[in-house]
Amino acid sequence: MSLKKILVTGGAGYIGSHTVLRLLERGYKVSVVDNLERGFHHNVLEGSVFHKLDLAETDKLAEVLEGQDAVIHFAAWTLVGESMAQPEIYFGNNVGGSLSLLKAMLRAGVKKLVFSSSAAVYGIPKESPIVESCPEAPVNPYGESKRMVEIMLRWFDQIHELRSASLRYFNAAGADPQGRLGEEHDPETHLIPLLLRAVETGQPATIFGDDYPTPDGTCIRDYIHVNDLAEAHIRALEWLDGGGATGQYNVGTGQGHSVREVLAAVEAVTGVKVPHTVGPRRAGDPPVLVANPEKLRRTLGWKPQYTGLRGIVETAWNFARRRAAAPQR
Ligand code: UFG
Repeated sequence: MSLKKILVTGGAGYIGSHTVLRLLERGYKVSVVDNLERGFHHNVLEGSVFHKLDLAETDKLAEVLEGQDAVIHFAAWTLVGESMAQPEIYFGNNVGGSLSLLKAMLRAGVKKLVFSSSAAVYGIPKESPIVESCPEAPVNPYGESKRMVEIMLRWFDQIHELRSASLRYFNAAGADPQGRLGEEHDPETHLIPLLLRAVETGQPATIFGDDYPTPDGTCIRDYIHVNDLAEAHIRALEWLDGGGATGQYNVGTGQGHSVREVLAAVEAVTGVKVPHTVGPRRAGDPPVLVANPEKLRRTLGWKPQYTGLRGIVETAWNFARRRAAAPQR
């Protein structure tokens, strides 16, 4: 490989830390930039070089970027609901922060970037599964912020020859199979950790609506294991390294699962009935979001290793139990 030194922003977060682990295992030299506002210091992995920096600090970022070969950019706010209440922090951090990073990259002469985008760029799609050419019509500032960065990246390619791959994640889920890392958000809003928490605490989880136009009435999502996501980033780096063009890629398995199916998988894995109630729909939830991941398969040779819900939930449960046994973290 000619790319050796990779700077990862948001490397102390959920998907970022799993990607750093994989990069280190592949022999890359990794520097992590994170302001630790939502990431955790315990996710900074031994073997990486850590810089506690905010993306707004362009000058310091440019210094850290000197001599790096490429960037993987995760650092962002990711809560849809919060973005509906405080759009300013989403446009400030996600768009403004990314622009600061891009300026620093130009200054340091780093011209390859893998960007964490989201299925949220599609809004409420008319087609399923979704292909990358589907109209981009975000329905919240979070999705809009991702779309705006994708637009900036197209212009930075055309004008500055900064090549990038934007990976549009569907529902990231699961944990490192050895339980070293896992999903930890504060507050937690994601389905699988909340169902596992209900198993652990006995406090009921809530199903957000069971009157959707789907076979069992609950929303359908495409759950993609975090290690498969991490691998997609490395494939994207290799693609850019080989001279590949700027592009946007869905990252999902192509299989949809309803909330009730996820609940059944959690019960099968934990052996415990998940206490739950059915509540109203959550504002802004599309009924069905499933990826067509063909472009990623075809272009980057990527294929998910975790194709079943059960395997994904097993890794998340393994991590939850390890965390419960080590509460001092
Ligand atoms: N859900 C529940 N109860 C909960 C939490 C979630 O029923 O307590 C349901 C949601 O309604 C949804 C599904 O479980 O149907 C998955 O919800 P998550 O919150 O886990 O994930 P989202 O699909 O809302 O979010 C994902 C990404 C976002 C991205 C969004 C695009 O995590 O970053 O898809 O719509 F913006």
